[in-house]
Amino acid sequence: MIAADQILIATRSPLLGPAEAVATAAYIVAALLFILALAGLSKQETARRGIVYGIAGMAIALVATFLLVLANGSLVPDGVTATLGTVLLVGAVVVGGVIGLWRARVVEMTGMPELIALLHSFVGLAAVLVGWNGHLYAEGIAPELVGIHHGEVFIGVFIGAVTFTGSIVAFLKLSGRMSSKPLMLPGKNSLNIGALVLFVALTAWYVVTPSIWLLVAVTALALALGWHLVASIGGGDMPVVVSMLNSYSGWAAAAAGFLLNNDLLIVTGALVGSSGAYLSYIMCKAMNRSFLSVIAGGFGIEAPRSANAEEGEHHETDAAAVAALLREARSVIITPGYGMAVAQAQYPVADLTKRLRERGVEVRFGIHPVAGRLPGHMNVLLAEAKVPYDIVLELDEINDDFADTDVVLVIGANDTVNPAAAEDPGSPIAGMPVLHVWEARNVVVFKRSMASGYAGVQNPLFFRDNTQMLFGDAKQRVEDILRAL
Ligand code: TAP
Repeated sequence: MIAADQILIATRSPLLGPAEAVATAAYIVAALLFILALAGLSKQETARRGIVYGIAGMAIALVATFLLVLANGSLVPDGVTATLGTVLLVGAVVVGGVIGLWRARVVEMTGMPELIALLHSFVGLAAVLVGWNGHLYAEGIAPELVGIHHGEVFIGVFIGAVTFTGSIVAFLKLSGRMSSKPLMLPGKNSLNIGALVLFVALTAWYVVTPSIWLLVAVTALALALGWHLVASIGGGDMPVVVSMLNSYSGWAAAAAGFLLNNDLLIVTGALVGSSGAYLSYIMCKAMNRSFLSVIAGGFGIEAPRSANAEEGEHHETDAAAVAALLREARSVIITPGYGMAVAQAQYPVADLTKRLRERGVEVRFGIHPVAGRLPGHMNVLLAEAKVPYDIVLELDEINDDFADTDVVLVIGANDTVNPAAAEDPGSPIAGMPVLHVWEARNVVVFKRSMASGYAGVQNPLFFRDNTQMLFGDAKQRVEDILRAL
């Protein structure tokens, strides 16, 4: 998206002559490559190829834009402006490229969602700036198109500003700088609906009389709405929020594409917008959340019951006892979660799997769709540690098999194995499909303390009679078990 933002800045003037033809052809090729990239990314086996298509498409788009700026620059009578435009473009590409490369190298896998949220905020901000630019430099537009232009400016600024502040709140929540609890302002649904009604009224007003104070008003309104929408959503629903903001950032880019008369930006924005919306829908289904309720900032969701702490006795175990349990087991299911990623325990977990399989134990993995902090997080870690794909199963594929299993190892998972979601209608995560680990004969939970998971909800699993807690860093504890075996 950083490259797309540079396209935004670079192609303000309408396309001209032969340069226009070459750029249009290159943009069509790039758009096709982006579609192939999405298709490739939909399967593990073709994901690598998909990424290569995406990189090629972005490279072609950048080169075409660069050539276009040079060609247009040579037609501008004022040489200083043309040179300045080129210098700005090259400067932006170099600075953006260096920062992007640096962040991509240092970011931890567990820090990806917050980085993605931050990148979405840049796209939103770019759309706001392009919109303001469209207001300030609106000369030369055919009179019959002026109304449409103003509509585009207003809508682009609105979507961009909502995306900007919404993504910043998502970044703050995901990185733990802001509480993940939902903000529950009195009448929050009426506030959101009121803001939308005001936006429609202001749009009509601006199209008739495009004065700058209306643009200031809609920018402020959208910034506040974006903040409020995401602040109102609780921790458990954050994965959907990130993919929804991804979708919003796509629509913001498409709106900017209309303003800049840039077909590639329109196509790319629409691809990002629709794929993000579809991913949000799939995730909502996986978490049994209402899609409309989540995109409307937790619309209709009441404040969760506060006292849900089930206290009781928990049973503690140690590595030697777990090794003894595994020696006797015929079937084992491992359900990893965010803690496995934090501890980087996937390598010893893969070793343990290998060792148990060599002893004839049936070992499988149960992966919850939102385990960890990003879609496919656990699958990527397990693939990295070379765990065979065919023993890594989705929630639906494995949920009925727990009752028939000797030992379940819950490695750094919490919310995704919480029985309250299935059994307590008053729980804040009620209705979310979870892995039914408690049905197994023995459950061992690897974690460092009795702390709750991401959604901040107590987990009654820890107090069940067939559950034993193995405290400590997941990686060290799995290594201890390997030694004891
Ligand atoms: P969580 O509910 O987040 O629980 C992770 C557990 O790991 C914690 O209880 C923590 O307990 C333990 N842990 C942390 N570091 C550890 C370490 N070094 N060694 C051992 N244990 C460690 O995990 P989950 O079951 O994977 O659920 C994911 C949650 O994140 C869901 O609520 C989901 O909605 C949310 N979420 C998901 C995504 C996506 S798309 N996957 C994105 C954002 C948010 P201790 O502190 O006691 O060790």
